[in-house]
Amino acid sequence: MPHAPDPRSPGTPQAGPQKAWGGVFREATDPRMEAFSESVSFDRRLADDDIDGSIAHARMLASCGLLTVPEADAIAQALEEIRADIHAGRFEFTAAGEDIHLHVESALTARLGDVGRKIHTARSRNDQVATDLRLHCRRAIDRIDAALADVQRAFLGLAERERGLVIPGYTHLRRAQPVLAAHQLLAWCEKFQRDRDRLADCRRRTNVLPLGSGALAGTSLPIDRDHVREALGFEAVAANSLDAASDRDFACELAFVLALAAVHLSQWAEEWIIYSTQEFGFLALPEGFCTGSSIMPQKINPDVLELVRGKSARAVGNLQALLVLLKGLPTAYNRDLQEDKERVFDSIDTLEAVLAVTAPLVAATRFDHERIAATLDRGHLDATSLMEALIARGMPQRTAHETVGRLVRRALGRGVALAELTDEEISADCVGWDAALRGALGASRAVERMQSFGSTAPAAVAEQIAGWRRRLGVGAAGT
Ligand code: ARG
Repeated sequence: MPHAPDPRSPGTPQAGPQKAWGGVFREATDPRMEAFSESVSFDRRLADDDIDGSIAHARMLASCGLLTVPEADAIAQALEEIRADIHAGRFEFTAAGEDIHLHVESALTARLGDVGRKIHTARSRNDQVATDLRLHCRRAIDRIDAALADVQRAFLGLAERERGLVIPGYTHLRRAQPVLAAHQLLAWCEKFQRDRDRLADCRRRTNVLPLGSGALAGTSLPIDRDHVREALGFEAVAANSLDAASDRDFACELAFVLALAAVHLSQWAEEWIIYSTQEFGFLALPEGFCTGSSIMPQKINPDVLELVRGKSARAVGNLQALLVLLKGLPTAYNRDLQEDKERVFDSIDTLEAVLAVTAPLVAATRFDHERIAATLDRGHLDATSLMEALIARGMPQRTAHETVGRLVRRALGRGVALAELTDEEISADCVGWDAALRGALGASRAVERMQSFGSTAPAAVAEQIAGWRRRLGVGAAGT
């Protein structure tokens, strides 16, 4: 329903809350339009960033003579009071107030009158919102980086506890070669480290100040953008006002980095769901991170891992939504850009939620050594080890491959492991066989014989562990 005319000022079209942009308008804003276009229901979470930005802006205006120092002091103090009100839940948000920027500004004006009406000097909501979102993303990047490091520490801790444990390694989810459990756990540390490196890279491009770009063209007022840059801890000032007001590359980059991290977490979750099935039985998940069934009393379900896997879909979808949002926009600000926030916020929230359960779940998970040991002689995990021993004796690789293939066929026929074939049986297929070659057989020996850099060899894995302890700042006490 449209607003009725304000009886106190007949002929004044603007009823309801005073709009920041009301001057040229002859008609009141339709409340359906307000409900449709408001963003304060979600961008209120930028309140701290908005206030930080406004305080820095006010101080800069004072340093340039566009405000007096007492005016800037009053603004800063009032903004801190507004911040406290918002934190305490004493602040009223309304659809008519549109977005967080206008809410904070009108609260400021309600407190300070004309001084409050000066805060928007040399500023537009276009450069303001871009600045707020960058500040918000920067803080999220730092939190998520720390949470990823916690997850890495949890994997490292488990790798250290399981140092000597040999497990079957898989390709195509078929038994391939034996590996140290620690090697496999540390593979996740590598992936999460690349996620952290990408976060750091994304942070560099996020950490550029748009404020001072105005709506699109800059300002004719004598501002000092470097002053604001310094106050807000940005590394650089955006060089092109048109670009700066509309650039959301940093948001896409963050959404991508978070989507890829979510995909890594999903892969890990899938792996552990498989390892913890009754069929595999390699892992015992902590019951505190599982749920039961309302109808089948025996069930202990890996719901956390399933949700970690499932929530990656949100992160991937958010990236796609952002890219599609941007693809049709002409230069500079368009209101479409308001749609960026919920996608970015959702990716941040999703990753933080996932990481918060991942670290404790990993730390509390145990490998079932007996179950694993009982499976190591199945699947001829040592076939490649024997093949390489033959190659080391001078046999051409293709010949060695074929020879071991025939031995595997023979072992399969008898339902035994390669090591259970007799010397006579092996000699029938393998020219130059002698018992010393048996040293290549058995899952543990196959692991111990590895020698390449980055392999699953115990010494190489010990080096990885030492390297991660250094990188992750894990002390001698394992903290
Ligand atoms: N709520 C808007 C957004 O999130 C703020 C910028 C509005 N600017 C404008 N010219 N209408 O993008």
